[in-house]
Amino acid sequence: MLERSRHVGWGETYSQRFAVHYSFPINFTRDVFDPANPTFVEALRRQEPAKGHRFVVFLDAGVDVAMPRLRHAISRYASVHAKSITLAGDIVIVPGGEEAKNRPEIVEHLLRSLAERGLDRHSYAVAIGGGAVLDAVGYAAAIFHRGVRHIRLPSTVLAQADSGVGVKNAVNAFGTKNLIGTFAPPFAIINDGCFIDHLPPREKRSGMAEAIKVALIRDHRFFEWIEANEGALRTFHPNVLDKLIERSAHLHMHQIAHGGDAFETGSARPLDYGHWSAHKIETLTRHRVSHGEAVAIGVALDTRYAVLVGLLPAGEDARVHRLLTKLGFTLWSDALLTRDRDGELAIMRGLRDFQEHLGGELTVTLLNQIGRGIEVNGMDRRLIEAAIDWLAEAAEGQRVCR
Ligand SMILES: NC(=O)c1ccc[n+]([C@@H]2O[C@H](COP(=O)([O-])OP(=O)(O)OC[C@H]3O[C@@H](n4cnc5c(N)ncnc54)[C@H](O)[C@@H]3O)[C@@H](O)[C@H]2O)c1
Ligand SMILES: [Zn+2]
Repeated sequence: MLERSRHVGWGETYSQRFAVHYSFPINFTRDVFDPANPTFVEALRRQEPAKGHRFVVFLDAGVDVAMPRLRHAISRYASVHAKSITLAGDIVIVPGGEEAKNRPEIVEHLLRSLAERGLDRHSYAVAIGGGAVLDAVGYAAAIFHRGVRHIRLPSTVLAQADSGVGVKNAVNAFGTKNLIGTFAPPFAIINDGCFIDHLPPREKRSGMAEAIKVALIRDHRFFEWIEANEGALRTFHPNVLDKLIERSAHLHMHQIAHGGDAFETGSARPLDYGHWSAHKIETLTRHRVSHGEAVAIGVALDTRYAVLVGLLPAGEDARVHRLLTKLGFTLWSDALLTRDRDGELAIMRGLRDFQEHLGGELTVTLLNQIGRGIEVNGMDRRLIEAAIDWLAEAAEGQRVCR
């Protein structure tokens, strides 16, 4: 709608206004490339059921190694459903983990693969992988032809419970995490439990940190459920892990749809609870500490901070620390004590990076009770240091070998 809004003698000003509506399905299934499973083919046929659809598959190298029969299963699935779908060219293998986001030539490789396969804006770039591969492929899909349809098959706990069901993508650049990327809602998401079966224990655990994060800011019952199921989660009981993923995915999706700021134009980002320090820990350790592991530390740090600042009742910090520790997280990294050349704790720069990324006033989510996040506009450096000391003491207490 174009409206004339003002005439001040120097010309006309019109006001342009329109809304874009997004809607996409998220399927929870098992064995998505079993020819009898209609989920994948239906996802592609959703808008034009009578048409044939071309798709390119980008596959996380880690998944490829863990599931050596997958490539063949995808080709077979495409030939069984050849009336509706065509696999365009060979499956493209993408290096797994943060490397996918750190190396600029990988994005170029992804874009070239799309160009070589002649993908158009009605065709699909399908990504199967962890959060890092989904981020890199999602970015390439969003900028190729200014955006081709993108379907995600997240293959880690973290990606199924959080990143894969979101609306953004990014790659790292100039030493900063997620510096370059777009907001680009996917065409469909398919969460397949089989991928999780093949995941190494470290990755299974890592993703649970994001579920605990979202429970802490939005859903105290979910947090209590995680506490009650701590034993089953520690041993990665598949049914319990499935439930954790599903609830976490719902909470993330609810926040994006109903939080009032799906494309993060404001200064707050509640889903990034604990992330200002987590992103810095990842960078300082050159990603030896994974995203989920860093989030667990960041969550423990900010929960302790909330107690120190008088927002959260004493004892709730130890409760969160205990749960994360029982699940097997190490709530310490020496990166918390690394100092810059000017002698300042390097982690503190995480706050500035966080503000720079969002723009506007620094806005950090803290807790005023388990299950309820609130926004604050500043953090006291001395109290952050005190929270770090608390984590250090707890880590010292856990050390078996001195
Ligand atoms: N876009 C977003 O909204 C958003 C949100 C949260 C996190 N992220 C990003 O997600 C990334 C972390 O993702 P992640 O925790 O999924 O880890 P990851 O993508 O780094 O993958 C970890 C490892 O697991 C391997 N792997 C993946 N699936 C496997 C499977 N099924 N079997 C065996 N190995 C498998 C990968 O090859 C890799 O080596 C970070 O870069 C983070 O910034 C993005
Ligand atoms: Zn995260």
